Amino acid sequence: MTGAADDAELLAAMSVPGDSELDNSLRPKALGDFIGQAKVREQLELVLHAARNRGRTPDHILLSGPPGLGKTSLAMIVAAELGAAIRITSGPALERAGDLAAMLSNLVEGDVLFIDEIHRIARPAEEMLYLAMEDFRVDVVVGKGPGATSIPLDVAPFTLVGATTRSGALTGPLRDRFGFTAHMEFYEPEELVRVLRRSASILGIDLSDDAAAEVAGRSRGTPRIANRLLRRVRDYAEVRGDGTVDLSGARAALAVYDVDDLGLDRLDRAVLGALVRGFGGGPVGVSTLAVAVGEEPATVEEVCEPFLVRAGMVARTPRGRVATAAAWAHLGLTPPAGALHPGLGVRAREDADPTLFEGGGSGA
Ligand SMILES: Nc1ncnc2c1ncn2[C@@H]1O[C@H](COP(=O)(O)OP(=O)(O)OP(=O)(O)O)[C@@H](O)[C@H]1O
Ligand SMILES: [Mg+2]
Repeated sequence: MTGAADDAELLAAMSVPGDSELDNSLRPKALGDFIGQAKVREQLELVLHAARNRGRTPDHILLSGPPGLGKTSLAMIVAAELGAAIRITSGPALERAGDLAAMLSNLVEGDVLFIDEIHRIARPAEEMLYLAMEDFRVDVVVGKGPGATSIPLDVAPFTLVGATTRSGALTGPLRDRFGFTAHMEFYEPEELVRVLRRSASILGIDLSDDAAAEVAGRSRGTPRIANRLLRRVRDYAEVRGDGTVDLSGARAALAVYDVDDLGLDRLDRAVLGALVRGFGGGPVGVSTLAVAVGEEPATVEEVCEPFLVRAGMVARTPRGRVATAAAWAHLGLTPPAGALHPGLGVRAREDADPTLFEGGGSGA
């Protein structure tokens, strides 16, 4: 594997090969173990508590947010808190309505059905899901053409937990059938410090406070990345040190892996570089930006942008993506007069002289 691929995977919020074992061993098992997301936790606690009191299955739950923030963990926690069994599938696996019908007809009363990446479910399966969610019933069509008949089947009352990184890609009718939507947010550094402490204690790693803070600050607000970086700094400490992860060891390890002080990876830096150097800071459309860095627009939009926006380096404006003063500074460049400052509204930038930001590069 090349170094570039390693770097990209090290900071990918999405799970990569090798993560699943770690993900599973470090997954919080109860709502009380789940760190951060205070609002989501409180809301979920109420939904589950009320359902338990009524002796009914809770409303269907949609978990929405960027990769690696704990959606799968929360789905499992929902089942555990309800004392229910969980059946796991994903949107792409439900290609035909029959796949979903088989899944649904095997459910036992009270089961939790977890559909990961639910925005990728095929249309016929989605339509079957509407009825199942609403009336706990499916219509299975048997045969083709004029002789086709539709056989109604009852489905045991269940709770659907859907997870999506793109709630905007969900159709209205599907979104409306969820009684509760949890919007997962990126984690604050203090929360990631707690995630790291917990993981370090599970894995038996001696992690100093300042090292935990250092790793947390470079984890892009994402527990999965924090856990992955923790593994790398442990390797470094074991090979080059006495096994204890301290600040200087953590810094040295992170430098070896080319993780910058904000936790930006190569693709993020490429996007920022294209935006600033190629397009004079923007505004530029996301598809043009994607071409400039040789990536799919969806990757730039769903993988890079959420964090760059959150880090205050990129702003989404009606006319396109704009680099903020912080982006220029992060690349070691002087921001032009009129560059958007994080915290200021988009308006300030929109009113700026557009010629200031035009041209200024090859565009690639
Ligand atoms: N709140 C949390 N407290 C402690 N650890 C967490 C928390 N959230 C996530 N993690 C850790 O991060 C890892 C990734 O979480 P999880 O697989 O649930 O993310 P996800 O949102 O489902 O990601 P994806 O969108 O890629 O499926 C878990 O294994 C767990 O170790
Ligand atoms: Mg997941």
